[in-house]
Amino acid sequence: MNYSIIAHNANYIPPVQKPNLTFFPQVGEQGIRDLLSRFYACLDKSAIRSIFPPEDAEGMEIAAQTSADFFIQICGGPAYFNQRHGMPRMRGRHMPFTITAEGRLHWLTCFEQALKPLESSVKDEDLQSFWNYINGFSIMMINTQG
Ligand code: HEM
Repeated sequence: MNYSIIAHNANYIPPVQKPNLTFFPQVGEQGIRDLLSRFYACLDKSAIRSIFPPEDAEGMEIAAQTSADFFIQICGGPAYFNQRHGMPRMRGRHMPFTITAEGRLHWLTCFEQALKPLESSVKDEDLQSFWNYINGFSIMMINTQG
């Protein structure tokens, strides 16, 4: 696995591809929910904790499951996010939060940590496709300089 991070350049938005459709069957719905639980548990202890509204770890777990609805959908599973929360409009939904290039690095570092346990059960190229997706897509969530 190559967890390198694409440098953010305000003048260039890289093309982003969704994860391989072969990723989801290997991880399964519960696997994605567990992935997002690990990820939000990491965010709860991270340098960007203050931008997340949930007040406690329990609130973070609820946020994790909303995010899991999104990732299950984007990976080719049931369209839970659309059904439960409406259109994704991810950039718009992130606008109320201060997301800097540095914040993105913390966010991706937590994702790397959360993905590692999947290395033994998911084909490398499929896990890589998931990383490539969040690596590129996260650039578009940056909405604040500095
Ligand atoms: C650049 C790094 C990012 C940061 C710092 C960030 C931060 C946040 C914050 C603060 C929230 C609100 C949490 C809450 O109270 O519910 C949120 C929600 C969410 N984020 Fe991100 N985010 C980032 C990138 C991404 C990316 C790349 C994706 C998807 C590919 C994503 C998917 C989501 C989803 C699905 C939600 C839930 C939206 C909702 O509640 O309707 N985020 N994010």
